[in-house]
Amino acid sequence: MVASSMDVLVALCKRRGFIYPSSSVYGGLAGMYDFGPMGVELKNNLKASWWQSMVYDRDDIEGLDSTILMSRTVLQHSGHESTFTDPLVDCRNCKARMRADFIVNNECIYCKSTDLTEARDFNLMFATTVGPVVNDENRAYLRPETAQGIFMNFKNILDSQAPKIPFGIAQIGKAFRNEITPRNFIFRVREFEQMELEFFVMPGDDEKWHQYWIENRYQWWLDQGLSPDRLHQCDQEKDELAHYSKRTVDFLYDYPHGQDELEGIANRTDYDLGSHTKEQSSLNIQANVKDNTDSTQRLAIKHPDRNEWVVPYVIEPSCGVDRGVLAVLCEAFDEETLANGQIRTVMRLKPHLAPVKFAVIPIAKNNPVIMKCAKSITQKLRSQLGKKVVLENTGNIGKAYRRHDEVGTPFCITVDFDTIAADDATDPGTVTVRDRDSMQQIRVPLEDIERVANELLSGGIEAFAQVK
Ligand code: GLY
Repeated sequence: MVASSMDVLVALCKRRGFIYPSSSVYGGLAGMYDFGPMGVELKNNLKASWWQSMVYDRDDIEGLDSTILMSRTVLQHSGHESTFTDPLVDCRNCKARMRADFIVNNECIYCKSTDLTEARDFNLMFATTVGPVVNDENRAYLRPETAQGIFMNFKNILDSQAPKIPFGIAQIGKAFRNEITPRNFIFRVREFEQMELEFFVMPGDDEKWHQYWIENRYQWWLDQGLSPDRLHQCDQEKDELAHYSKRTVDFLYDYPHGQDELEGIANRTDYDLGSHTKEQSSLNIQANVKDNTDSTQRLAIKHPDRNEWVVPYVIEPSCGVDRGVLAVLCEAFDEETLANGQIRTVMRLKPHLAPVKFAVIPIAKNNPVIMKCAKSITQKLRSQLGKKVVLENTGNIGKAYRRHDEVGTPFCITVDFDTIAADDATDPGTVTVRDRDSMQQIRVPLEDIERVANELLSGGIEAFAQVK
């Protein structure tokens, strides 16, 4: 089963330290969420898995970390200042503002009045001022996508790393959109993180590479635990396409609120590099940009065979980290009825995404020998794995199992009286290892615990039976 209602998931996320509303002491701030101790681990693990597949497992992609605040000029040339808008409608009755495309039957989504204004364009970018003088010249924006930072560094990376086309630049980072109607928990928020790849290819090779990335990215989401039954591919209609896109394929996931976007894979053509290149006069540089603020760089490559400049095409797989976390949590959530009739809530996260890899549970917190043994196992696993290993010290094993089932800890290791009773090599002490999903338990000799831990994590839950 998956999470059937957002409310159940929201409650678990708060109770177990995954996600909290931001600024909550003062009533919260709409469209903003903070990630707690479990949430930050899950999010970091998802990002690490993306980075591994994009940057570490390949020769043709480099990483980048560019600034969040961006010059206004960048976002004028990119087209965001003029076109990055959503249609806004006011309700004359309750004064609420909402997205026109979220309205059903011409009714206000809050008070159901039909006394609504005509839709007008609302720019989604957050503007601010750089330096002490507040004027239009000093205006900057919080980036609405990380992609523009990649285009700004195209030439730096070309000059310093000398990649051969096709090649990509990958970036993970915050982006900001002043959503008119933030909603559905962390699905539609105003501050979020993106994982974006801009993959530069020769014009003409773009459609082939577009298909390659659609297949690559779909498989990656399956590897994160999403089921193909709930992950769908769909071509955006022509009138839905972003201003830079020739074709975009969306991955839609069946969230509790309905089918909605998880990742978009766009063919951005030469729109962005062309727009940021002054010399490309045939390309659509916007008339409202003053000459003295224009780019002076040619964001192009030398053709490998001919003596001419080519503006590469760009294939862009772009996904929201927060939406990814939401999909992974929805998919992993399960409630099962046990033989005794009790309901067990369990997050069946893939081990590489689980916030805590192992929980070490001493059966008696007041027994110094048991505590010493539990601490020693914890230390060994921490230094061996470099991952989060928790030492439980509540002394309540049932509670500890429940907590770790709910946060998705794949394995619990219990240190009990048998562990410390043994005193010679022919009768080695053993610990109990419990598998989260099957609740099956095996006893593992203390001396083998590091090896077994490695096999369990690298082989996944399925390896459990073989380790036995
Ligand atoms: N870079 C694509 C997007 O932010 O939607």
